[in-house]
Amino acid sequence: MHVAILAGDGVGPEVVAEARRVLEALHLPQMQFEDGLVGGAAYKVSGHPLPEETLQLARRADAILFGAVGDPDCDNLERHLRPEQAILGLRSALKLFANLRPAKLFPELADASALRPEIAKEIDLVIIRELNGDVYFGEKGFRTTTDGYRQGYDVMSYDEQEVRRIARVGFETARARDGRLCSVDKANVLETSQLWRDVVIETAKDYPDISLSHMYVDNAAMQLVRNPGQFDVIVTGNLFGDILSDQASMCAGSIGMLPSASLDAAQKGLYEPIHGSAPDIAGQGKANPLATILSAAMMLRYSFGLGEPADRIERAVAQALAKGARTADLGGALSTSQMGDAVLAAL
Ligand code: NAD
Ligand code: IPM
Ligand code: MN
Repeated sequence: MHVAILAGDGVGPEVVAEARRVLEALHLPQMQFEDGLVGGAAYKVSGHPLPEETLQLARRADAILFGAVGDPDCDNLERHLRPEQAILGLRSALKLFANLRPAKLFPELADASALRPEIAKEIDLVIIRELNGDVYFGEKGFRTTTDGYRQGYDVMSYDEQEVRRIARVGFETARARDGRLCSVDKANVLETSQLWRDVVIETAKDYPDISLSHMYVDNAAMQLVRNPGQFDVIVTGNLFGDILSDQASMCAGSIGMLPSASLDAAQKGLYEPIHGSAPDIAGQGKANPLATILSAAMMLRYSFGLGEPADRIERAVAQALAKGARTADLGGALSTSQMGDAVLAAL
């Protein structure tokens, strides 16, 4: 079990350090870690946010534990040199097309949710976000219109096999849960979404046991805060999934709580919190490490088939929260490493 650790920028190294301590405390035989530079941290050393060496490490490893990339110092670099290109490059080079973003409220955190506790406590959903296509990876650029105005453009597109393979992940995930899949699109306006919807409906023929519904993304954003409990599994495109998962995180207490798994067709995975490098709190020991610790649990479960130690981590997080452990985002005063200590104590 060879794990590449790509901590990245901002709070990335702070939260990854806690997840690593938790993994080490499990004393799993044969688990070894290898660190690599990524994002702005890599750019500053080597002039590229995803150096060849790091990409090779990611390819060699059985799984990747990722922190976050993004550095305000790099926001004016040419796009291909910006830190964010590192995570996009890894997702694309390793064909990590299926991004699983579970959002569940730990009951102890009902008071931390942006929603009223009786609404928040119902949230238990998984967003299946497509990760290799959409407006993220289409043709893009700047040009000048015939009137002489500057214009920016990003082409949104999906082909049918891209939709089919993520739809299948959605149906399979629903099958392993409550059997309800909601496909989120904007088919009332976008041709990309019309194809998405058509292909999801075709794919549904193979899953007669799953109850499929469709929702426009604007309505889905509203329904997520009105009644998040109505969702079991959401399947959606790259851009809509990005936005809806940040929103879902606040229903579940904090953006510092949501883990994710990005998987290829063979369950090779990259595991990362859904949040970014949080430059506003970086270096202050304030970041909540639980999303990354829970991502490590997903890694054990999905990449290594180690359900029991994954459960142990999740139970330890629940216990730490039950005992009152709270970082600032959850209304408390624990530092990043004190939250790590609380999880380790519960473990
Ligand atoms: P962000 O997720 O980094 O931060 C948004 C807000 O949430 C901030 O106020 C931050 O302090 C807070 N926050 C985030 N994680 C937290 C944690 N663990 N504990 C407590 N509070 C937390 O989003 P942003 O500010 O829009 O982006 C900052 C940088 O991160 C940008 O460069 C962006 O491109 C990058 N980013 C990277 C990833 C990734 O690496 N996968 C994801 C999102 C954003
Ligand atoms: C995420 C981030 C990334 C995305 C950025 C940093 C490229 O927001 O992982 O959610 O948009 O996918
Ligand atoms: Mn995001």
